[in-house]
Amino acid sequence: MSAPNLHLLVIGLGSAGKRHARNLRALGCTVSGFDPRADRQEEAAAEGPLESTFSDLNEALAATVYDGFVIASPPSFHVDQIIAAGATGRWILCEKPLSINAASCRRLEAAGAKVLLGYTYRWWPPVAEFRRRLQSGEIGAVRHIRFVMSAHLADWHPWERYQDFFMANKEQGGGALLDESHFLDLLLWISGKPQSVMASVDKISDLDISADDNVDVIASFSNGMKANLHLDLIGRPHQRHIIAVGETGTLMWSYEENAVKLSRTGELNWADQVFTCERNEMFIGAAIELLDLIRGIRNAPSCSLEDGIAALEVVDACRQSSASGQSIRVLP
Ligand SMILES: NC(=O)c1ccc[n+]([C@@H]2O[C@H](COP(=O)([O-])OP(=O)(O)OC[C@H]3O[C@@H](n4cnc5c(N)ncnc54)[C@H](O)[C@@H]3O)[C@@H](O)[C@H]2O)c1
Repeated sequence: MSAPNLHLLVIGLGSAGKRHARNLRALGCTVSGFDPRADRQEEAAAEGPLESTFSDLNEALAATVYDGFVIASPPSFHVDQIIAAGATGRWILCEKPLSINAASCRRLEAAGAKVLLGYTYRWWPPVAEFRRRLQSGEIGAVRHIRFVMSAHLADWHPWERYQDFFMANKEQGGGALLDESHFLDLLLWISGKPQSVMASVDKISDLDISADDNVDVIASFSNGMKANLHLDLIGRPHQRHIIAVGETGTLMWSYEENAVKLSRTGELNWADQVFTCERNEMFIGAAIELLDLIRGIRNAPSCSLEDGIAALEVVDACRQSSASGQSIRVLP
């Protein structure tokens, strides 16, 4: 697929921004970039041609008319940058999470920006297949779902000190709960909104960070289903999986095994559906959807501003529950 003549501005040229720039170039786009750090601009330019690079967003926005935008800055900047880029009327792919809390997203209501939100596991074929199989009723009524994401923060960006990465910084939107709200989004995408959550959000490891590093959530649904999420920035080896327990079997998605697995017996007797996809494919999937939205091939984003706010409402409820020791209602 190619997208001749489309020119996109990537806002934030760190790990995710450089990846988006590479992918957009591979899809035939012209790419410009903005990052306040000169070294990040140089790294991005060294990977492949950039039409222009900027250290100032206003200057970047005034320089030309872009066909669309990617926002890949730390989460605390996303709302302001959506409003600034959204004023052009063009589509924006904004990396997750939408912001640092739901209240900060209220300003977006009046902005009318067109946003595709980058909860990229939605474009990950094994996760989409896991959801399809669950929703087809393959394991009967689902009674319980467990989400686990455990990955030591020092392993995430081996090229820099983890203390210097926004993930270490609470104010910029770091931490297990916000950053791995991927898994809250998947909970909502798979099962809808829970009625209430009970959560513990803590900093418990030796990591030298101001953000949380361990999250445990029990979510209760109106149909009686329970979900349990564990997120941490401490674990080695890394683990990302979802296990759904139904009346007639258990279905599991494992990132590490790149498989969806079914078992219906009391033994560890799994029937595996193994995938060959690589991590970048989820970002390519999001980029293709952005280009389809820009070109009018598609009208509505599959992951929207409303989805981003819904995930942040659950984030807020988890924080409130952790602070009060109470179960917090999510549904009115
Ligand atoms: N979808 C995914 O799976 C996925 C994966 C990685 C990161 N992300 C998201 O992408 C975003 C960036 O994460 P990252 O890992 O690339 O972080 P990073 O630290 O590697 O990159 C962030 C970049 O933003 C720049 N920056 C700082 N302030 C800025 C500002 N005001 N405007 C623009 N840029 C600014 C920094 O200089 C840095 O280069 C986060 O929201 C993160 O959650 C998503």
